[in-house]
Amino acid sequence: SGSPGGQKAAASFGPIQPSGEDDVVLPEGFKYEIVRSSGDPMGGDMVYGDHNDFVAYFPVDALDGGDNSEDGILWVNHEYVNPMFWSDYTDTEGATKKTKEQVDREKAGVGGSVVRVKKSGDAWKFVEGDGMNRRIDATTPMGVTGPAAGSDRMKGATEVIGTLANCGGGVTPWNTVLTCEENFQDYYGQRTDDQGEAGQGTDDSPEPLEIAETYRWLDDPDNAQPPEHYGWIVEIDPFDPDSKPRKHTWLGRVRHENAAITVSGSGKVVVYTGHDEEDQCIYKFVSSGTYDEGDREANMDLLSDGMLYVADFGQGKWVAMDYENNPIFKDNGYKDQGDVLVRTIDAAKLEDPETELPIGTPMDRCEDIEVHPGTGQVYAALTNNALHGNFFGQIIRMTEKDDDPEAEEFSYEIFATGGPQTGFASPDNLLFDDDDNLWVITDISSSSLGSGIYSTFKNNGAFVLPGGLEGGASGGDIVQFASAPVEAELTGPAFTPDGKTLFLAVQHPGEETENPKEPTSTWPNGDEPKSSVVAITGFA
Ligand code: FEO
Ligand code: CA
Ligand code: CA
Ligand code: CA
Repeated sequence: SGSPGGQKAAASFGPIQPSGEDDVVLPEGFKYEIVRSSGDPMGGDMVYGDHNDFVAYFPVDALDGGDNSEDGILWVNHEYVNPMFWSDYTDTEGATKKTKEQVDREKAGVGGSVVRVKKSGDAWKFVEGDGMNRRIDATTPMGVTGPAAGSDRMKGATEVIGTLANCGGGVTPWNTVLTCEENFQDYYGQRTDDQGEAGQGTDDSPEPLEIAETYRWLDDPDNAQPPEHYGWIVEIDPFDPDSKPRKHTWLGRVRHENAAITVSGSGKVVVYTGHDEEDQCIYKFVSSGTYDEGDREANMDLLSDGMLYVADFGQGKWVAMDYENNPIFKDNGYKDQGDVLVRTIDAAKLEDPETELPIGTPMDRCEDIEVHPGTGQVYAALTNNALHGNFFGQIIRMTEKDDDPEAEEFSYEIFATGGPQTGFASPDNLLFDDDDNLWVITDISSSSLGSGIYSTFKNNGAFVLPGGLEGGASGGDIVQFASAPVEAELTGPAFTPDGKTLFLAVQHPGEETENPKEPTSTWPNGDEPKSSVVAITGFA
């Protein structure tokens, strides 16, 4: 569900071959144009952030049930920044402190953008000066809902400062966006159980202990935030420029890749989300309340109350992370439901006394999840896990018992396997189009691209698995649609409802650059590499 409404992009194109070209390579008859690039003006003192990722397209008339495919609002995540280009910080040894100005600049480079876009003729343009244009970044005040709001573990916070590490996301049936905080530990660090009581955020240890925060935001200690305020799923209303984003703690606190949303037969909202890290878990949230198509205001509260489940693939069970009704949490020292949710990662690792295994099954880095619009089956991209010799990844397909998204039991199978025989490796973003074609976008790490076992794949790409593959995909079924610039990943995929435009966010071209004067990619301008969202047209 990368975009609201239907999608109609049949896989009717002449497939391309793997490419090492420093460009977005497309089949004949297709073209792309840049909508916004890192650092572009957004009106006033707002700038478009760095490293764009998840993209959602909202028809401008979506709240009236419309499906305008030539006038809309894009929500775009900004996952992280490249300090070398974004904030002029090039100390690769990491010995030099960041100035407050550099930290502030980086805080303005993450989060997300609301971008008004219009098509005129066959060209998409950013609408300068439009009242909908908005930046949300690491300084934007946000509300908190659910059991962790105001809890001790959150240091009593009912409001937190900013969002960061915004990777994947999802669109709700009531036309809000869910943006997912993934590698939050890189900004203000994190605490884990390994540090014992002192590491759990007591007054004795106000500083994060575990990880040196990659981005050095603690170099500005006056504006440091508690790590517990990040790692959540955030709901944003792109249609109301004054709306306050909210972090929904019932959806757990992990390195969230994305949020795949569906509505059960009884009307409950179910959100699937994966933790993208080796040996971490897959989760789902089931709301208490039910969706009411005619009451957007009431729907806004649906993610504030419900239950979080973690997947046990050995038993095919969704295990409720329910403090009241499952003694495992109290027995292991958790103090309340909010505590379980703030420490979701550790709580999912508690050992089931019967199976002597963790209650949540360690997976091979779950990236994007999508719910098949027709069957309700859940597709999850397990990108790779070097710890287990899984270097090419695969896509699994989960089937809920009785096809009920609320079910507490499921079965699963391997749907498609990455590797030279299928032509793709390290699947990341997924998307279904209107013809049930599954779009699979790869994220082979920049340091591995084009060499060793990955050499035949060349640059990262976008692939299409034709719809109706009952038994799963094999080599030959899969065709390549796009190839990314050097060291880039194609993120965000979102179609307009008419299926005629595909928005992609080109992320981290030239990621391996060591000297900013000699970048490894100069896409898109032949100068310095810039992450950019592009509009691809040419679909029949
Ligand atoms: Fe930000 Fe897991 O990709
Ligand atoms: Ca991703
Ligand atoms: Ca997706
Ligand atoms: Ca990835």
